[in-house]
Amino acid sequence: MLSWLEDAVFYEIYPQSFYDANGDGIGDIEGIIRKLDYIRNLGFNALWINPCFDSPFKDAGYDVRDYKMVAPRYGSNADLCRLFAEAHKRGVRVLLDLVPGHTSEEHPWFLESRKPAPNEYWDRYIWTDSWIYWGRENIRFVAGESERNGVYIINFFKCQPALNYGFLTVREPWQLPADHPCCAATREALKDIMRFWLEKGCDGFRVDMADSLVKNDDENKSGTQAVWRDIRSMLDAEFPEAALVSEWSSPRQSLEAGFHADFLLDHEGSGYRSLLRDYRMDAENRPAGEDNSFFKKDGNGDIRRFLDQYLPWYEDTKNTGFISLITGNHDTPRISANLSPGELALAYCVLFTLPGVPFLYYGDEIGMRYIPLPSKEGGYTRTGSRTPMQWGGGKNRGFSDAEPERLYLPVDSAPGAPSVEEQEKDPASLLNTVRAVIGLRHAERDLRAGSDFSVVYAEKGKLPFVYRRGSLILAVNPGLEAASAETGLEGKAVYALGKCGLEGGVCRMEGQSFGVWKL
Ligand code: NOJ
Repeated sequence: MLSWLEDAVFYEIYPQSFYDANGDGIGDIEGIIRKLDYIRNLGFNALWINPCFDSPFKDAGYDVRDYKMVAPRYGSNADLCRLFAEAHKRGVRVLLDLVPGHTSEEHPWFLESRKPAPNEYWDRYIWTDSWIYWGRENIRFVAGESERNGVYIINFFKCQPALNYGFLTVREPWQLPADHPCCAATREALKDIMRFWLEKGCDGFRVDMADSLVKNDDENKSGTQAVWRDIRSMLDAEFPEAALVSEWSSPRQSLEAGFHADFLLDHEGSGYRSLLRDYRMDAENRPAGEDNSFFKKDGNGDIRRFLDQYLPWYEDTKNTGFISLITGNHDTPRISANLSPGELALAYCVLFTLPGVPFLYYGDEIGMRYIPLPSKEGGYTRTGSRTPMQWGGGKNRGFSDAEPERLYLPVDSAPGAPSVEEQEKDPASLLNTVRAVIGLRHAERDLRAGSDFSVVYAEKGKLPFVYRRGSLILAVNPGLEAASAETGLEGKAVYALGKCGLEGGVCRMEGQSFGVWKL
């Protein structure tokens, strides 16, 4: 395991919307550099930056045209190297977003691959051997777009042709086995990109759709796992301090494949979703109907729905790597869409004190809102979670000096929309709660990613939820009514939000409270 991850707390930055230093209406690398002190001062010591590479931006940069060049709208490679250096000076590590499964349809490899005559990149992508193809199983493809006599397989949008890492089970003549030299060449090309940025000072990668590489290995992902093991050996030999965090949401598979940490995502029916986003969405992507999220003060939340999925995964992976809990990301609805600031504060207290490596999405520290907006750069309903950071109360809420119509997306200028400036002044603000709980995490070794964890009290449909980290006991009661649990434990208070106590062997929690005690 990578020791620096033990104390890492990540801040995710969507670069378009964080801070615009040159006044062109879109965030940039220089903007991130100028806000490093803000980030560090909140206690974050690591960043994940969404793709900032040259791209036609049909999927907000997840359609990479040049992996080795910063998109001019964000600055230059030199700016990104300066960000690495400035971050490191402050004890902050930087993960870039690696998109291994597909490129943009405008990537030079793809432009070669689509030509009618064979060439070096002919098999860099997955093409069938005839322009007529009716498809099978869950293979998604594009036909009729090139002179080459074939159709190509896509990974996500039409603009994202799948790179060729081969097939675990070869069923058609055009499917190459994963050990074919052309598939090995794709793997080597990926390593080359990773080396390029690691040599320049980046600290690792968040890996997009990490489970999507080898095709036809749906059941056990053993083909894709083998690719990552090979890549992990390269890192261990050449960049042993580099971290790999996967978008996979299946920690048993991903950590076994060599990832250091894996995100739990808000997939339909997932345990993670039952904590924060257990609602249906209406046509505008707003929460609709009953909301049974655990952190909802008047919902019917049930911590077992989370734990029944999480605990077996945690037990099976705790000696191999980490599970990453997130407040949200650029794909999820904002966490504030259904949770009030008081509910968010309790949710953050728990997310930042459970084991594993936590991530907060920019703006969630102040409870930025979800704003229904027309789709931008392939965002669709995700666009509303990608609006400019609200720094203050002035022009464009301090995000940019540009005229409002030039902004990447409109800022939330509604009265009451939160801002950093205003929350800095209020000791009880969400921002200051985030700072306090991250501070606690750094101060207590027992709250590190890999420190011991066990459940003390978690009953179906009941409150509070009480858990233990080393010599610390932690409890949360998100409901409105007081709740208590027999624990047989006594402790000295270390931190509290709201009224609570651990005395006479009983943990007593007023409504909407969180507490930490040392045994
Ligand atoms: C997952 C990313 O988080 C998402 O934003 C993107 O659209 C897809 N992968 C495709 O790369």
